[in-house]
Amino acid sequence: MAHIEAFEVMEIQTLAREVEARGTDVIHLEIGEPDFRTPQPIVDAAKKALDEKRMYYTSALGLAELREAIAGFYLSRYRIEVPASRIAVTAGSSAALLLAFGVLLDAGDEVLLTDPSYPCNRHFARALGGVPCLVPVGPASRYQLNAELARRHWTAATRVAMVATPSNPTGTMVTPAEIADLAELVREKHATLLVDEIYHGLVYEGDAHTALEAGEDVFVINSFSKYFQMTGWRLGWLVAPPGYVREVEKLAQNLFISPSAVAQYAALACFTPETIAIVEARRKELDQRRCFLIPALESLGFKVPVVPQGAFYIYADCSALHPDSFAFAREILTRAGVAVTPGKDFGHCEPERHIRIAYTQPVARLEEAVRRISKLLETR
Ligand SMILES: Cc1ncc(COP(=O)(O)O)c(C=O)c1O
Repeated sequence: MAHIEAFEVMEIQTLAREVEARGTDVIHLEIGEPDFRTPQPIVDAAKKALDEKRMYYTSALGLAELREAIAGFYLSRYRIEVPASRIAVTAGSSAALLLAFGVLLDAGDEVLLTDPSYPCNRHFARALGGVPCLVPVGPASRYQLNAELARRHWTAATRVAMVATPSNPTGTMVTPAEIADLAELVREKHATLLVDEIYHGLVYEGDAHTALEAGEDVFVINSFSKYFQMTGWRLGWLVAPPGYVREVEKLAQNLFISPSAVAQYAALACFTPETIAIVEARRKELDQRRCFLIPALESLGFKVPVVPQGAFYIYADCSALHPDSFAFAREILTRAGVAVTPGKDFGHCEPERHIRIAYTQPVARLEEAVRRISKLLETR
C-alpha cells in the first residue's frame, strides 16, 4: 500500500464539490467523462433485458452473443478477424487490465509504462507484485513509448511493455509501424506487448488501427466506457492471445465470477447503426471542442507541444504561467471556478509543468472557462 497513491483528480473533484457547496459555479474539466448521457438505444436495451431476462451470473468470459458482437465490430471497423473465443468481457477495462497483468506478472517482473500515463496502470502492476518502470516521454516521441525507448529502458526483469493509444493524459497516438516495432521487440525479448485502446473511436485525425493487426500475441484492452459513454455501467473487454484465454478465464472466475449481466445485455445495442450514428455525432462534437480549446489555451499562455489526435484531453504545459501546476490547479478552481487535473496524477516526469484539461463540456462552457482563466491571469 505504501506504493499506491491517491487518484489526485478525485481529490480535485472533492475540492470542486466544496467550492460548489459555497455557491460558486464550477466548470468541470477534471474527470475523464464527457457530459453525454448513455445513448438511448443502450438504455432501452437494458430496460427490456431487466423485464425479460433473468439477471444471473453469466459465463466468466461474458455472454457468448456479446463476445460475438465485439468480434463482429473488429471485422466491420478494422477489417480484422478476431475470434470471439479470444475476447473476455470484463468489469470495465480496469478489470481487463487487472486480468492481463494478473496472467502476465510474477512478483518482481517489470512493466514498462510511459510517464506521463494513466495512473492506475502502475498501481495495478504494484498490487500484483510487479514493478512499474516509468519511461519519461515528451514531445519528441509524442509522449509515447517506441521500440528505441523501450530497448533503452529494458532490463532482464522486463516482462511487459505497455502503451495506450490514444493516450490519457496526452491524447496522442502510436502509429501502426511503431506498434509493429514494439511487437517485434517484445517477441525478441520473450515478453508481452499490452495495448490500451480504450479511447478508440474517439480519434479526430487519421484512422485508428488496432494493435491486433501486429499479431495474435498482443494483448489489447478496450471498454464501453468512453466511445459508447457507459462509464458507470462498468463494462469493457480484453483480447488475449489464444494460449492465455484459459488463464484469463480462471482468474476472472475467481476475481469477479462474471461481468454485470444487465450491462452486457445493454451493450448488445452498442454495435447497431442507430447507436453508432449517435456516438459518431458526439465524436464530431468532441472534435469541435478540441478545435476551439487548443488555440484558446495557447492564447492564454499555455503550450500544447503535440496536438492531441484523440481521447478528450489536452495535456498543457503551464510553466510560463505558474511554477507549480498543483498550486495552479487549486488557484484556478478556487478563484476562477474551473476544475482541471494537475500533472502530478500521471507520473513523475515534470508534473509541475503540466495540467490535464478534459474537454468534457459544451463549447459555450469551454468559452466561459477560458474567459474566467483569462480574467484570473490578468488580475494576479
Ligand atoms: C487510459 C485508460 N485506461 C483505462 C481506464 C479505465 O476505464 P474503465 O474501467 O471505465 O474502462 C481509463 C479511465 O479513465 C483510462 O483513461
